[in-house]
Amino acid sequence: MSFKITDSVTWVGKRDWELRRFHGEEYSTHKGSTYNAYLVRDEKTALIETVWAPFAGEFLQQLKAEVDLGSIDYVIANHAESDHSGGLPELLRLIPDVPVYCTANGVKSLKGHYHQDWNFQVVKTGQRLSLGKRELIFIEAPMLHWPDTMFCYLTGEDILFSNDAFGHHLATEGMYNDLADPCALQEECIKYYANILTPFSALVKRKIEEFAGLGLPLKMICPSHGTIWRENPMQIVSKYLEWASDYQEHQVTIAYDTMWNGTRRMAEAIAQGLTEADPTLVVKLINAGKGDKNDIITEVFRSRAVLVGSPTINRGYLSSLGGLLEMMRGLGFKNKKAAAFGAYGWSGESVKLLTAQLKECGFEVPAASEAGMRAMWNPDGDALEQCRAFGREFGQGLKR
Ligand code: FEO
Repeated sequence: MSFKITDSVTWVGKRDWELRRFHGEEYSTHKGSTYNAYLVRDEKTALIETVWAPFAGEFLQQLKAEVDLGSIDYVIANHAESDHSGGLPELLRLIPDVPVYCTANGVKSLKGHYHQDWNFQVVKTGQRLSLGKRELIFIEAPMLHWPDTMFCYLTGEDILFSNDAFGHHLATEGMYNDLADPCALQEECIKYYANILTPFSALVKRKIEEFAGLGLPLKMICPSHGTIWRENPMQIVSKYLEWASDYQEHQVTIAYDTMWNGTRRMAEAIAQGLTEADPTLVVKLINAGKGDKNDIITEVFRSRAVLVGSPTINRGYLSSLGGLLEMMRGLGFKNKKAAAFGAYGWSGESVKLLTAQLKECGFEVPAASEAGMRAMWNPDGDALEQCRAFGREFGQGLKR
């Protein structure tokens, strides 16, 4: 169901309560998501974005109930990824001549996706589109998080349509931040930043500074996923500035996998050592084979250091750690320490390989932890005491 946000702006998107995986199977969405599209009615009518293709039919039905499609003067495509552009082919089949405003990279992406020569109108930062009393101001935001991404700002209503930025995968009936469960909202926002925006942190800071420099008043931020920032919209902007500055809490995450519990027992002993070294340290253990990879990444994002453990298998390490390390490599976390540990029976390569991979991910492996912590077969009392000592030493290095 559509709803009015202001006299001129109506939400015409889709709540997806059932979504549990996004970006294929890559991103977990425990609480669903929304695809936000907005209709702006002044003397001219503009549609800002659409929805994901499976909901294109529902979207058009709702849109037709709201407005005569023929009266839509402009379509704004802030981003070509199909969760926003999926409704375009069907919509533009019905109104083929309507101009589609997007960036130059947006044309490439939209053509690449849909192979249609729509009536593209390329815009750049600062360009304005008059709707009557109000104007849309376009702000390119390349690599937040695709090359084509842009924001647009509606004068008169003082609303920033920020596309993916400031979004979160959270389906709610009340579509405003002040109506959402604050814990769920905070968790989904940080998870979204950690898993999607981490590599672009320098650009996030620059874009926020650039927007602030425009001196535009801000009453609301309307992102393309999750709730609308109606109450104190600057709170999410402040969080982004914090998260974009090599964010960390006083936390260590221990991500491990285990076959016969040897590496699990090592993880627990290392955790004990970390706490002995610094009782103020938050230590979280997660079995990477059982835990959700995006939730683990969120914990790594929060951490000052990550300890990664796997037994040796086939001269390597367990596949759950392989996937996780590849995610960490791509996200490029900065200013975090790391070390490896693991049980083994004979050849025992896992720790050396994990250590090399942690360095490849950009983590700092302290010299004292370079060799990691290995335990042969199932760790006995002495081996577990060595693990505690390893944890204590690593924890000393993290003391504030
Ligand atoms: Fe929400 Fe980059 O798509």
